[in-house]
Amino acid sequence: MLRYFTAGESHGEALVAFISGLPAGLKVDQSFIDRELWRRQQGYGRGGRMKIERDTAHILSGVRHGMTIGSPVSVQLENRDWKNWQEALPVGEGDPARHKRVASPRPGHADLAGALKYNFPEARYVLERASARESAARVAVGALAKSFLRELGIEVLSHVVGVGAVSLNPQASWEQIQNLFKREEILLNCVDAEIEQLMKDEVDKVLKTGDSVGGVFEVVAHGVPPGLGTYAQWDERLDAQLASAIMSLQAVKAVEIGSGIAAAAAPGSAVHDEIGYSVDGNFTDFTRTRNNAGGIEGGVSNGEEIRVRGYLKPISTLRRPLQSVDFETRQPVSAAYERSDVCVVPAAGVAAEAMVALTLSRCALEKFGGDSMGETVRNFQGYRAQLQSY
Ligand SMILES: Cc1cc2nc3c(=O)[nH]c(=O)nc-3n(C[C@H](O)[C@H](O)[C@H](O)COP(=O)(O)O)c2cc1C
Repeated sequence: MLRYFTAGESHGEALVAFISGLPAGLKVDQSFIDRELWRRQQGYGRGGRMKIERDTAHILSGVRHGMTIGSPVSVQLENRDWKNWQEALPVGEGDPARHKRVASPRPGHADLAGALKYNFPEARYVLERASARESAARVAVGALAKSFLRELGIEVLSHVVGVGAVSLNPQASWEQIQNLFKREEILLNCVDAEIEQLMKDEVDKVLKTGDSVGGVFEVVAHGVPPGLGTYAQWDERLDAQLASAIMSLQAVKAVEIGSGIAAAAAPGSAVHDEIGYSVDGNFTDFTRTRNNAGGIEGGVSNGEEIRVRGYLKPISTLRRPLQSVDFETRQPVSAAYERSDVCVVPAAGVAAEAMVALTLSRCALEKFGGDSMGETVRNFQGYRAQLQSY
């Protein structure tokens, strides 16, 4: 079974990710992992932190001679900012006078709920773990999942479809999204240059006013065979697993599969993807005229592209802070401010790619099994032959 965890505080020494259940014999390309980490750090509207960090994956276990060996893989990402925080966040007792308190909770962040839950007198420890710095660790193991999926012909990428009030319409093609991936500069990761400029203007607007902005990303999984996930149990449905994986990302407040939101207001005849038959021979000869279902019906992948969107609320740390209360005095004060991003939609999309890749990998391993890549690929090809002769 594919399982993964992360550990680490935003300003601690390092982040660590741990993944077990990958078959042996999967090629591990360090430069691919580092490029994925770089992509997560990009985007117009990021804060100063991203100028300090340049993440690289340090693999500690589970990979030898460039390949997985079937044992758990652990990866460490150093926090370059740690050198400035050793006295404020020591593992040992340290000097309390050096602590950096977060004196007033930020509305929208985890500060108040976390401090109440863990009985902390202020929010420093809360934001250290609630911070989306954690998502870098997911991207590291997500890169391994992407490498695994590639062996089955599955690719996972994302693009941005909305920033604030600006949105992309119509749907981006797989080719357009692939071209985005090749770019060496990531601004708002939108396939349409004119819309991307409008998105940039939207970020400039909030930069000027000390505000922040949210948006929408779309993750597309290309080459997914029919049959991943199942309707047989509620928690094994692929749509449910993807929704949970995407919703687990910081600041994501809604998830949409295919055109799920618009579908709720449309008649069935305008929503459901009609079925045809022609000998075009990918996975099967069944065809669809469109893909409103986002590649999933009944909790099972149907052979079309999987399209899943995440809706991000605006970042909660504001340069012009909202009203809050001082933890100690209980007097009204402005919410705390600490160096912050104002727009993270492209980065969230990259983290979401990792979550989709990890989810699809788990489902694929459940279906095809295998302790070595040879065995998994052989099983996959057997299933593919079964589909083709259906
Ligand atoms: C890639 C990424 C970067 C983020 N950067 C910041 C940030 O710099 N400042 C901030 O206040 N929130 C940031 N967030 C959002 C917070 O982490 C998130 O709002 C907070 O942990 C509370 O969780 P919730 O929004 O899911 O309720 C970021 C989110 C993502 C996905």
